[in-house]
Amino acid sequence: MYLGIDLGTSGVKSVLMNDAQQIIASMTAPLNVERPQEGWSEQDPASWIQALSDTLDELKQHHAKELGAVTGIGLSGHMHGATLLDANDDIIRPCMLWNDTRSHREAAQLDTSRSRELTGNILFPGFTAPKTEWVRLNESSAFARVAKVLLPKDYVRYWLTGEHVSEMSDAAGTGWLDVGQRDWSLELLESMHLSIEHMPRLVEGTAVSGELRAELKSRYGMSSSVVVAGGAGDNAATACGMGTVKAGHAFVSLGTSGVLFAANDAYRPNPESAVHAFCHALPDTWHQMGVILAATDSLNWLASVTGKTPAELTSALDTKEVTPSSTLFLPYLGGERTPYNDAAARGVFLGLSHTTTTTDMAQAVLQGVAFAFKDCQDALHSAGTTISRASAVGGGANSEYWLKLIAETSGYCVDIPSDGDYGASLGAARLGMIAATGADPYAVCIPPAMDKTIEPDGRQRDAFDEQHHRYKTAYQALRSI
Ligand code: XUL
Repeated sequence: MYLGIDLGTSGVKSVLMNDAQQIIASMTAPLNVERPQEGWSEQDPASWIQALSDTLDELKQHHAKELGAVTGIGLSGHMHGATLLDANDDIIRPCMLWNDTRSHREAAQLDTSRSRELTGNILFPGFTAPKTEWVRLNESSAFARVAKVLLPKDYVRYWLTGEHVSEMSDAAGTGWLDVGQRDWSLELLESMHLSIEHMPRLVEGTAVSGELRAELKSRYGMSSSVVVAGGAGDNAATACGMGTVKAGHAFVSLGTSGVLFAANDAYRPNPESAVHAFCHALPDTWHQMGVILAATDSLNWLASVTGKTPAELTSALDTKEVTPSSTLFLPYLGGERTPYNDAAARGVFLGLSHTTTTTDMAQAVLQGVAFAFKDCQDALHSAGTTISRASAVGGGANSEYWLKLIAETSGYCVDIPSDGDYGASLGAARLGMIAATGADPYAVCIPPAMDKTIEPDGRQRDAFDEQHHRYKTAYQALRSI
């Protein structure tokens, strides 16, 4: 039996997977995001451990036998967060998350041709390095206490194993990894007032990173040895769950953030396109992705200001034919990564009229996110990767209307997996299984059966292209004000 743990932005999910790779139990516990100031986004790492413990206690209550039979654990988590620990491994300050853009000035300064050469990426404000630099400049006494910088899921690992370890896919999003070499760059660390001592040890995502602590083993009734795999950042973990591990495979993820993810046959950096080129979770593999900061987050925002649920907002759309909306929404609620790297961008509704309804606004929001994915596709294309089909994943993928919009605006086929749970927690459990058994990663990380494929019919192609052009022009025109 294997345990997959996904530390998501909105909650922790723990799943139990058997040897046949069936999910036999799944528990979630919610998490809050604190936004104490404009552009800030934080979580208390203690809340991760509390939420994880809640899911494990629930599993113990309802599936004690299966939980006790676990031999391998895999971890996934939201990427880039800076979890700062002191010499006693105590948390120094709340973790600044992936969508925290306060360190945009620091990012602009640290993003040099040399950093791009070593990391293969723009040093986005959301990455870890600009965050520690912000702490150094703004909270110097906190920075002086920093002994270790851990990524969010690696703090969960620390709680599970007592060890400071990270793995390649998540480390690639710090701004300190030489992504081609799969090792920390001493040069980059030094230039950012840090040293190798501040970094966790690195393993591959499929390798053993440590053993579950004896106290936790006895708490959860486990008797044999329980190893914790390196695991992966949530996007690479999702790729392991969706079988997106070989070149030619791609997925489109509609989670809090939106990701268009392509597995590559080699390391293919192209920072100019604002595409992320990261290590994959399988040894010596890499991937590219376009990242938008607010996918379901945009719809959730509209839901919160209209007092309706996302389902209420979109239910009238599901039966509607997919046509372009002339009301535009720019989904840059907290800035944007691909393709603009613009932390100062903000959301916009354009073209509201007396007759605009909340359903029209919801349609504009879904279309705005679909256009943002189209921008990611164009960015990946300029980075040498052509997407001809992508599998859909994430909470937003439950809306077929949204997936149809993505297929029509981007012109590729969207595959919908048959019922089941193929996200980051399954990917994490698979990595736990590989670490525990030594199984071939390519035999384990296979794509799920597909229930159906949405093929773009192309009849509205010109009309969508026209609205997409207005959408891009609106961003350029509004940027200066
Ligand atoms: C990827 C990114 C997000 C987070 C949260 O670069 O920032 O996808 O991992 O899910």
